[in-house]
Amino acid sequence: LKKITTGKDDKGLNLYDPGYLNTAPVRSSISYIDGDEGILRYRGYPVEELAEKSTYTEVTYLLIYGNLPSQRQLADWEFAISQNSAVPQGVLDMIQSMPNDVHPVGALVTAMSALSIFYPDANPSLMGLGVYKSKQVRDKQIVRVLGQAPTIAAAAYLRKAGKPPVQPLSNLSYSENFLYMVESMGDRSYKPNPRLARVLDILFILQAEHEMNCSTAAARHLSSSGGDVYTAVSGGVGAIYGPLHGGAVEATINMLSEIGTVENIPEFIESVKNKKRRLSGFGHRIYKNYDPRGKVVKKLADEVFSILGRDPLVEVGDALEKAALSDEYFVKRKLYPNVDFYSGLINRAMGIPSSFTAVSRIAGYLSHWRESLDDPDTKIMRPQQVYTGAGIRHYETVRERT
Ligand code: ACO
Repeated sequence: LKKITTGKDDKGLNLYDPGYLNTAPVRSSISYIDGDEGILRYRGYPVEELAEKSTYTEVTYLLIYGNLPSQRQLADWEFAISQNSAVPQGVLDMIQSMPNDVHPVGALVTAMSALSIFYPDANPSLMGLGVYKSKQVRDKQIVRVLGQAPTIAAAAYLRKAGKPPVQPLSNLSYSENFLYMVESMGDRSYKPNPRLARVLDILFILQAEHEMNCSTAAARHLSSSGGDVYTAVSGGVGAIYGPLHGGAVEATINMLSEIGTVENIPEFIESVKNKKRRLSGFGHRIYKNYDPRGKVVKKLADEVFSILGRDPLVEVGDALEKAALSDEYFVKRKLYPNVDFYSGLINRAMGIPSSFTAVSRIAGYLSHWRESLDDPDTKIMRPQQVYTGAGIRHYETVRERT
């Protein structure tokens, strides 16, 4: 791991690689993707198999600790997450003080980073770099982040709806709690629809991890400076907020609403081909084939619509997908629907906030954080640049400047 140079005047091998298309800053054993074949595996398990047979909490354990938990480990794990799901009142007050039109993901970024202030005993900037050497300290932060993320996301969503935050219940699963907090108005007898809770759980599984995507790279980048895990996770959430990343879920819905009816699709496709805009929910840096998660999401969408009714925008989505897949522009560039294309329609039908993608991906950030702490190759991330600015210049007083 040395910088490659041939002599003292050689600045070394410097690869100009915008967007890191050819750069692997880490070795990781968490997830495997073959973008040409449309394969995604978590710790070796095909994501489709986990989506069918597993639960989100089980998958978070698998991602973070490397193996599926035993029955006892799973029970302890779910208990620990549940026990750590209450958010400090100061953070809830902060969310309440946000503007009425607060975006749930913006609020999640802010509130997640605020947790580093509430848990100073786990902050290397205050306690020293060695604080995360302790397994107990690490494990405690992991269950706090996993436990509190949905509570914060739900509180932010409720803030926007002008409603007070709702704390989770210990007798509900992770996904049931998310629906409970969003839908119950604090009525503790409220029972979320179990089929919809299962759909949400599967969506969480599908979005839990995706190797060195923009947001996980951002979280790993932040933690490489030795900073605290809350700030690193909030950095990941900040990156996934963008419309080219997890924000595509919302951007897709906005796009479908703007198109409005099937008749407007040809004109919209033309504007995409003329580079006036992008087709949200299509294309991927790694998948040059169907996104394997997209296929599962499409089936889930049918399940949701059979329960909640078919949104007219679904017809627009279906027709847009067909039009794009048979158009030379998309075929040539290998642009297929990604996981976000139908996720937005599911969210909209279920009335759940757009922040759920960010919440589910936190499992991935935590897995990578833990992996990086144990990796002897971990170094502070410090890319280089190709300087294109002026040569040396000398200061002129204001009067001398022309
Ligand atoms: N609509 C129209 N054209 C597209 C799209 C799209 N969605 N995606 C890529 N292209 C075109 C580009 O214009 C480019 O064309 P060119 O060769 O004529 O210049 C070519 O396909 C390659 O595109 P890049 O931008 O180089 O691909 P990159 O790997 O950098 O981008 C990205 C990947 C950002 C996901 C892109 O496909 C995109 O913007 N998609 C829409 C947003 C989206 O759905 N994001 C969610 C991704 S999944 C997730 O993050 C959870």
